[in-house]
Amino acid sequence: MQIANTKSEVREAVRAAREDGRTIGLVPTMGALHAGHTALIERSVADCDFTVVSIFVNPTQFGPGEDLARYPRTLEADAEQCEQAGADLVFAPSAAEMYAEDAATTVHVAGLTEGLCGAFRPGHFDGVTTVVCKLLSIAQPDRAYFGEKDYQQLVVIRRMVTDLDLPVEVVGVPTVRERDGLALSSRNRYLSAEERAAAPALRRALLAGAEAARTGATGSEVECVVADELANEPLFRVQYISAVHPETLEPREGEGLPMVIAAAAYLGDTRLIDNIRIEEDD
Ligand code: PAJ
Repeated sequence: MQIANTKSEVREAVRAAREDGRTIGLVPTMGALHAGHTALIERSVADCDFTVVSIFVNPTQFGPGEDLARYPRTLEADAEQCEQAGADLVFAPSAAEMYAEDAATTVHVAGLTEGLCGAFRPGHFDGVTTVVCKLLSIAQPDRAYFGEKDYQQLVVIRRMVTDLDLPVEVVGVPTVRERDGLALSSRNRYLSAEERAAAPALRRALLAGAEAARTGATGSEVECVVADELANEPLFRVQYISAVHPETLEPREGEGLPMVIAAAAYLGDTRLIDNIRIEEDD
């Protein structure tokens, strides 16, 4: 497995792979890799002949007061994990390599970025879509892999790829969880023992909401069920609980299925997000 720090090394490696007739998969990450990331890499390795994993803590998607400075950076262990999972190339650029000092272009997806996390993290999705657009341009993959755990991110990236006619297939990968239901996240390592014990309540609350949705509850009713359930765990401070349409992300309010119930909540200083998708025939 090769490690590249520059865009030109990636372009060269991908060009050589293409010349051999190989298909290319891209897995964008910010490192601090866990089994959720591994699932994306393994899926790419299964589908594609040459898998590129990018590891870049993208400064433009962090707001002031967010955790950019303390975001875990574990490049050596990450590279090892990529190799184990069968990746062919790790792209780990510096911020200076990624962004020219006078860079003036931002990719903005309107509408879909306004609600849910977008309402509380202004500019976040512009940072995500801009860096993902650049990574797609650098690696030119046939397929790019994203987790359903960051559901809004997945929908926003699909929209960007459609709207900009980017020649890539976006593949969504189901959320990988701990045995107690907590979605794996690089941020879980911030949790104290007490917070970690409380954390699975978020998943339990979403499951209760999904059950209500399946038995005919409207979006607004589902949101109340989730909020009531999560209130049983006093350590959680809810940021939002929203039932939305899976594709448009419009509030479901008086409507029922299909829906995605998405939530963000703090345990201490750590912000956790999770979601559950329920279809009409579930
Ligand atoms: P990061 O948080 O490192 O996540 C990288 C990818 O792994 C994302 O597609 C995310 O949805 C997926 N992922 C995270 N936890 C997962 C889990 N438990 N199960 C399955 N997939 C999971 O998301 C980002 O980085 C950045 O915004 C990025 C897209 C790299 C742009 O900077």
